[in-house]
Amino acid sequence: ALAALRPRDLAGRRVVVTAGGTREPLDPVRFIGNRSSGRQGVAIAEAAAARGASVLLIAAHLEVPAPSGVELREVGTALELRDAVLEAAAGADAVVMAAAVADYRPEHVAETKIKKETQGDELALRLVRNPDILAEVSAAPRDGRTIVGFAAETEPDDDRLLELGRAKAARKGADYLVLNRVGWSEGFATEGNSVVIVSRGGDIVTRASGSKREVADAILDLVV
Ligand code: CTP
Ligand code: CA
Repeated sequence: ALAALRPRDLAGRRVVVTAGGTREPLDPVRFIGNRSSGRQGVAIAEAAAARGASVLLIAAHLEVPAPSGVELREVGTALELRDAVLEAAAGADAVVMAAAVADYRPEHVAETKIKKETQGDELALRLVRNPDILAEVSAAPRDGRTIVGFAAETEPDDDRLLELGRAKAARKGADYLVLNRVGWSEGFATEGNSVVIVSRGGDIVTRASGSKREVADAILDLVV
């Protein structure tokens, strides 16, 4: 009901949202992935469109349907997501990086299936760092563009979670960092969410909890 009362305060604006989890291939049939469902990013894209924005959703392996009324660009790996974000950011008023991006990718991708026969009893994988897309897009010339990042932390202690979030906010250089606890049973495939949003300087700007749509609208309130 509240959503219907919201003004179209993003009319005429271009919002780019990343959602889902990247997958890094090992061979033609296997990958290294993560548990992000894409729900929070999809909710942000949906909410931004409802508020009148023209929305590009850069989606990596969503477990939920993409919303209607947004432009969809599907990507697989972190490097593909990086290309899509850097290309789209230039024309955007806001970039919201909700996707869970793989920090590392296999150094070599096997052309054919990795076989037990050639590997024996152990298999060692060598991984290399992926570029930090949020830091890059935050450091690029901005033209007034607002950048929002997320921070997924498993830290159980609230104070320490906030400290990790503040340090990450300073490192990333985004305008806002949405701090989110994740774990074996928290954060990913769940319907609701509970977040603390910190500024680049580490101040708590707001707290939001409820449905992922409600959290999405709280984030967009800041963007507006
Ligand atoms: N992110 C990114 N590029 C990466 C890794 C993460 O753009 N290679 C973005 C995510 O989309 C998210 C933010 O950075 O918006 C924080 O992601 P998170 O995994 O919490 O932070 P990291 O900097 O990767 O630190 P770590 O995983 O070591 O805690
Ligand atoms: Ca990470």
